[in-house]
Amino acid sequence: MPDSTPRLGFDTRSVHAGEAPDPSTGAHGVPMYQNATYAFRSYDQLEASRAGRAPHFLYAPRGNPTVRSLELKLADLEGTEAAVATASGMAAVAATLLHLLGNGGHVVASADLYEQTALFLTEDLPSLGGAATLVDAGDLDAVTAAIGPATRAVYVEPFSNPRLRVADVPALAAVAHRHDLPLVVDNTFLSPALLRPVEHGADLVIHSATKYLSGHGQVQGGVVCGRREAVAGIGRTLLRLGGAMSPFAAWMLLAGVKTLPLRMARHGANADHLARLLAAHRAVCHVDYPGLPDHPGHATARRLVGAGEDRFGGMLSFSLRGGSAGIGPFLDALKLCTLAVSLGECGTLIWPFACTDLIRLSVGIEDPADLATDLLRGLDRVPLPVAAD
Ligand SMILES: Cc1ncc(COP(=O)(O)O)c(C=O)c1O
Repeated sequence: MPDSTPRLGFDTRSVHAGEAPDPSTGAHGVPMYQNATYAFRSYDQLEASRAGRAPHFLYAPRGNPTVRSLELKLADLEGTEAAVATASGMAAVAATLLHLLGNGGHVVASADLYEQTALFLTEDLPSLGGAATLVDAGDLDAVTAAIGPATRAVYVEPFSNPRLRVADVPALAAVAHRHDLPLVVDNTFLSPALLRPVEHGADLVIHSATKYLSGHGQVQGGVVCGRREAVAGIGRTLLRLGGAMSPFAAWMLLAGVKTLPLRMARHGANADHLARLLAAHRAVCHVDYPGLPDHPGHATARRLVGAGEDRFGGMLSFSLRGGSAGIGPFLDALKLCTLAVSLGECGTLIWPFACTDLIRLSVGIEDPADLATDLLRGLDRVPLPVAAD
């Protein structure tokens, strides 16, 4: 009989999915199982486990109860059959691509990707027998043209790191599926609270869990969500790469994910406020924030995440008028925004990219007025070019 129970809401599932009181002790909240191996009561039990009749944990990198709870929670939130947790976001990226592209496979990837992902595609993949073509993911003809007989996947970030270019996930999924290819989406910037890529046609969803899923900058982790068979294959590659998530990271992430929807709404509302403030300021040259109506990807972004002003995530990039001369004085005047790389934490992080004018802001959940005051204090220090008469 079909289950007629109404599906619980996203906020409820963020708290409860994948969790139950510990069966042996009744402990409320998933305990951290910090052990490497699992004992069998008898040879019969081992045989039953090997035959798949009575599943049993075996060895920590192949599965751990704390990590499994997190995997169940994240698969539930992304709306996928399964998930595999990884030691970092890059472990998730590498295991997924190596699994898909083994034996001389090729991937068509966006040219706008997190730097280490792009470097993996261009520098590591070729030496492992794979190949990548990087294209403007906004140009569907270029994506189609780059697909060849060896292509095994299309890979994008919906809101790219760090330039916040918007990828049209449903359109890219249609192109990929016309060629029988999976669309792989790195959803780190938005999280399932704002975008569930499989609802828009994606096949595999990757996260650096180090960022919004954790929310507190205390652990490194990653996850890949998708169909059971694909996730199992990625899990096997991950095992050989030694990229399993630690129980401690999973335990911290189980706590972090409970507040994900609350945090994402506040990150988004604060980012919207600061993007508008920056865009209107004379010391700012341009702002990349998909929530701004004049952002080139705004209409596509609205189709992906909805129309609310707190729906566009907490990330924005901008540059100062007059180029790099103002970056030092601006950053050194800030008292609340922390000069640090990474993103997705409760506290606002600001990062200038080397050799460009680009400054990335990971907007935190502080009082928006305090963040505005801090940025305005910095902007006051930016030397403005003298206007020509
Ligand atoms: C979009 C994106 N994907 C993947 C990663 C890699 O994650 P990790 O640092 O957890 O390996 C990052 C890290 O910044 C990222 O921003």
